[in-house]
Amino acid sequence: MARTRQSPAMTSVAPPIADHPGNVRDTLRFLTCGSVDDGKSTLLGRLLSDADLLTDDQRQRLAASGAGDDGTDYAAVLDGLIAEREQKITIDVGWRYFSTQERAFVVADAPGHEQYTANMASGASNAELALLLVDARKGILTQTRRHARIAALFGIRAAVLAVNKMDLVGWSRDRFEEIAAAFAILAAELGITQLVAVPLCARSGDNVVRRSTAMGWYAGPTLIEHLESVAIERDPAHRPLRLPVQWVNRPGPDFRGYCGSIASGALSPGLQVRVVPGGQEARIRRIVTPAGDASMAIAGQAVTVTLDRELDISRGDVIAGAGDAPDAADHFAAHLLWTGGTEELLPGRSYRMLLGSCEVPAVITALKYRVDVNTGGQEACHTLRLNDIGVCDIALDRPVPFESYRHNRDLGGFILVDRQTAATVGAGTIDFALRRSGNRFWQHLDVDRDSRARALGQRPRVVWFTGLSGSGKSTIANLVEKKLHAAGRHTYLIDGDNLRHGLNRDLGFTDADRVENIRRSAEVARLMADAGLIVLVGLISPFRAEREMARSLLPEGDFIEVFVDTPLAICERRDPKGLYAKARAGNLRNFTGIDSPYEPPPAPDLRLDGTHASPEHLADQVIALLD
Ligand code: ADX
Repeated sequence: MARTRQSPAMTSVAPPIADHPGNVRDTLRFLTCGSVDDGKSTLLGRLLSDADLLTDDQRQRLAASGAGDDGTDYAAVLDGLIAEREQKITIDVGWRYFSTQERAFVVADAPGHEQYTANMASGASNAELALLLVDARKGILTQTRRHARIAALFGIRAAVLAVNKMDLVGWSRDRFEEIAAAFAILAAELGITQLVAVPLCARSGDNVVRRSTAMGWYAGPTLIEHLESVAIERDPAHRPLRLPVQWVNRPGPDFRGYCGSIASGALSPGLQVRVVPGGQEARIRRIVTPAGDASMAIAGQAVTVTLDRELDISRGDVIAGAGDAPDAADHFAAHLLWTGGTEELLPGRSYRMLLGSCEVPAVITALKYRVDVNTGGQEACHTLRLNDIGVCDIALDRPVPFESYRHNRDLGGFILVDRQTAATVGAGTIDFALRRSGNRFWQHLDVDRDSRARALGQRPRVVWFTGLSGSGKSTIANLVEKKLHAAGRHTYLIDGDNLRHGLNRDLGFTDADRVENIRRSAEVARLMADAGLIVLVGLISPFRAEREMARSLLPEGDFIEVFVDTPLAICERRDPKGLYAKARAGNLRNFTGIDSPYEPPPAPDLRLDGTHASPEHLADQVIALLD
């Protein structure tokens, strides 16, 4: 499932059902999950080979490899075999297809390792059923609970609990029933309404395809019987029309086609549609396909449509039926699964959100709580770490079309991407919109930034000094302000240490607190520049992302990043406040440069050499740049 790292996992990872040959009848998409050595691949291999879905040649090769004695081997051979069976199909890694007489199957195989829950989330968001494996000896583990919770979070309401390795517990009915009962409680709590538990042995094949003689006490279906017969509610074609526009095709002046995959519903020429968030309406004129115009298109199909009048539509907009269009909002309550590896969630940091076909900057404005994966309890928290599930408020830069995940996976599921590294750091589901969008207005004021600046006779700017503690930021900023003041300029100096006595008194030095410290300071600097002042800011501001955010608050050219580049060794030698000594002695935690990171600016507007030059000389360089 390598694609999950770059693509909007919630919407585009699963191959469209129509693209593979198994679609003749009815297709079940299921997700397999379990801990690393619960035997997932062995089970999948057993299922295919016992259901006679392998050719003689493949079977021989499987036998020759000795696979089956060892789950991993089996898996490796099988991966090749399955890929080979599906040669003509482009497969997203991790998605596999097979079909029996009764049904076609699309399987999302989520690796069991802890670091792969992002893939699990993406698999779950495209699946209808979860096949959860547990080892009969171990029973329900934290990992099982986590996987069940993630599956449920991403909309799965049907599950099969495969209690594997029954041979190793002497085919014990009591053990099976104990595990099944424990899981039933969890499933009920998670809203998994269709649950079947099957005792089986993947290695020997008991109850996979062949009914077990060793477990004569079990009267339920074998695994394959259940997968072939389980009824899944689904009817995307009859839900309201949602066409997220992926791109606008404009080959010439007289053709404008809107392209995308229909997330739900159906459309045909003549249908009155509305564009969200814009709100304009028009009628569908044509559905253009390579094979000529179509008279209708339904959920799952990629289409190009034209309208009977020119509208201003761009990527990320949603075309919907005029009578039942979705809302747009810029503030949501959501569940969030954090998958960010070593990086923890930083409320206040701006991430890139991919939702439907939109890409929009997003900030976690409040982290309500973290869910204890074992008990489901709510724990207070300031951040989320790898595999944590939390509930939060998220604010976007602009309103986007959405629906709650419960109603529409495509318009309610999102991923968060780190803006610097482009890595996927979270996957989430929208619960509901918060009414900030409707109730907060921007008040127009007649005296504006320009008039205030004119009255003061100067160009307002923000000069942002970043660098290690002890690098000389405050000293230089202080000198710059004196010089500006002497020249009759109107100025203000925002100093990190000072602000932490008042406005930022509640903040410490964790990454999350620094992000908030910088956000507030940047907003204050913005207001002061709006008031017409030349604002000098001296903050360590160790993270690139937040300095970029500060820059983005001001008009182009009005934010000047000054890197006071003094090496750690020199700052430490100077140690004006004795803090480095304390940090080295272990008496001060999270100290920048010691056990908390500093990300130097790759391209500051001005770099000051804090090693050799005098503060006086450095201040003059800043003045020269301002002039
Ligand atoms: S920032 O990282 O959030 O930008 P800020 O510039 O406001 O930091 O505050 C830094 C000042 O706080 C330092 O100059 C130092 O005097 C003091 N300080 C106290 N504890 C720490 C710490 N753990 N790390 C860095 N600075 C600290």
